[in-house]
Amino acid sequence: MTRILDNHLMGDEEFAERTLRPQYLQEYIGQDKVKTQLKIFIEAAKQRDEALDHVLLFGPPGLGKTTLAFVIANELGVNLKQTAGPAIEKAGDLVAILNDLEPGDVLFIDEIHRLPMSVEEVLYSAMEDFYIDIMIGAGENSRSVHLDLPPFTLIGATTRAGMLSNPLRARFGITGHMEYYTQADLTEIIERTSDIFDMSITSEAALELARRSRGTPRVANRLLKRVRDYAQIMGDGTVDANITDKALTVLDVDKEGLDYVDQKILKTMIEMYQGGPVGLATLSVNIAEERETVEDMYEPYLIQKGFVIRTRSGRIATAKAYTHLGYHYDEKAPKNQHDS
Ligand SMILES: Nc1ncnc2c1ncn2[C@@H]1O[C@H](COP(=O)(O)OP(=O)(O)OP(=O)(O)O)[C@@H](O)[C@H]1O
Ligand SMILES: [Mg+2]
Repeated sequence: MTRILDNHLMGDEEFAERTLRPQYLQEYIGQDKVKTQLKIFIEAAKQRDEALDHVLLFGPPGLGKTTLAFVIANELGVNLKQTAGPAIEKAGDLVAILNDLEPGDVLFIDEIHRLPMSVEEVLYSAMEDFYIDIMIGAGENSRSVHLDLPPFTLIGATTRAGMLSNPLRARFGITGHMEYYTQADLTEIIERTSDIFDMSITSEAALELARRSRGTPRVANRLLKRVRDYAQIMGDGTVDANITDKALTVLDVDKEGLDYVDQKILKTMIEMYQGGPVGLATLSVNIAEERETVEDMYEPYLIQKGFVIRTRSGRIATAKAYTHLGYHYDEKAPKNQHDS
């Protein structure tokens, strides 16, 4: 499998992440809706000996978009070339990548919503009719050159479908909306990871970890590694419910799976803004996090868990947030929730 534009050194965490990645659909846990669709489309494309239609995967970070892109390439039995929106600065960069594809290959573009417009425009004809027109030379001597491409499959991943332009979005024949994982799926993922790490974990502990992993496999795997360390040093190596609870408490992961930043967001909303409404930009400045991080990583989970609601005038902390963090919730306090 070829990887391009990926020349940074591999850290421990990243290495572990790669060894944990499922290779085929059968090992890929959860996301049943997306998987069921893909299975059919992949099979059909293979039967016709065609490239799979372009796939757009969207959803919060760590839900397995990159993993799924590799799984799709494996299932198709083709190469995958990986790059990311911000890494392709000029149209020429994209031309070089496209020119290097073999028939049926997968080109995976992560963070596709961050492609420069000039690059995106080159993609349109490449995706639709497998050709590009490029300008060569400058001024009077410049001319347009037509370049045919092999049929290929573009897989785009984005945390925010809303930030994709309409013409680009329209060129994806298959859309996979990734959802937060259920507790049952996360438990299975945790048990699979423990197997790979050859560690012993009780089913209660796996369930507790699943409950506190923000519906996200990456978080589950990361917490599992930390709990394993804890069990090794403070116990006999077995991860049980007691060790898990202790370790997660030390790691600032509370009973609902909220971490330090989640809690800071809610506390800021409650203490500084009487529960809101407060704008995302203001909130981000107050907790010293990038707006994008808050919007992509934290907010979707807080909303899905019912701690925050989004209204046109800003974000509002719910009664559940007050209760969970031990604040008194006053029904009559001025939280204008009318325009959600
Ligand atoms: N369905 C799954 N089954 C088992 N493990 C999974 C699954 N999905 C993801 N994982 C694990 O979670 C880790 C994170 O997944 P991945 O890197 O694919 O997420 P991502 O959606 O691409 O995140 P980002 O948006 O941050 O790029 C993987 O290393 C893998 O071990
Ligand atoms: Mg990824």
